Amino acid sequence: MEVMDMKLIMAYIQPERFKEVKKELYKADVKKMSVVKVRGCGQQMGFTEVFRGASQEVNLLPKIRIDIAVNEDFVEPTIEAIMKGARTGEVGDGKIFVVTLAECVRIRTGERGGKAIG
Ligand SMILES: Nc1ncnc2c1ncn2[C@@H]1O[C@H](COP(=O)(O)OP(=O)(O)OP(=O)(O)O)[C@@H](O)[C@H]1O
Ligand SMILES: [Mg+2]
Repeated sequence: MEVMDMKLIMAYIQPERFKEVKKELYKADVKKMSVVKVRGCGQQMGFTEVFRGASQEVNLLPKIRIDIAVNEDFVEPTIEAIMKGARTGEVGDGKIFVVTLAECVRIRTGERGGKAIG
């Protein structure tokens, strides 16, 4: 039996895009997720305009992180859905990280791996 890889998709998005992202994920049949309010910054360091030498530190802005663990075949549809819901074309639209997942256990049944994720 072929065993599929499991991945953890971590997406950082603008809070105001969350509703739209959730809708797109649902349409893509992605219905399991964890959502966390976080603060973060990317390459603008949290400033839309950065004057050279003007700032010694970063400015952390409110973001939403969505964690979704999926079997390999759901990685691309999940990424597509997040991009569709979150992209405006402006800086700060967000970033998606994909991490190889070593294990998943459904506590109630003891199922493991892809069966436990799905
Ligand atoms: N390398 C990183 N490590 C950890 N978190 C990151 C990283 N890059 C971005 N993030 C998170 O993603 C959020 C959104 O990042 P953002 O969209 O501003 O990325 P960017 O690289 O600055 O791209 P852009 O130029 O389009 O703004 C950040 O506020 C932060 O929470
Ligand atoms: Mg940025």
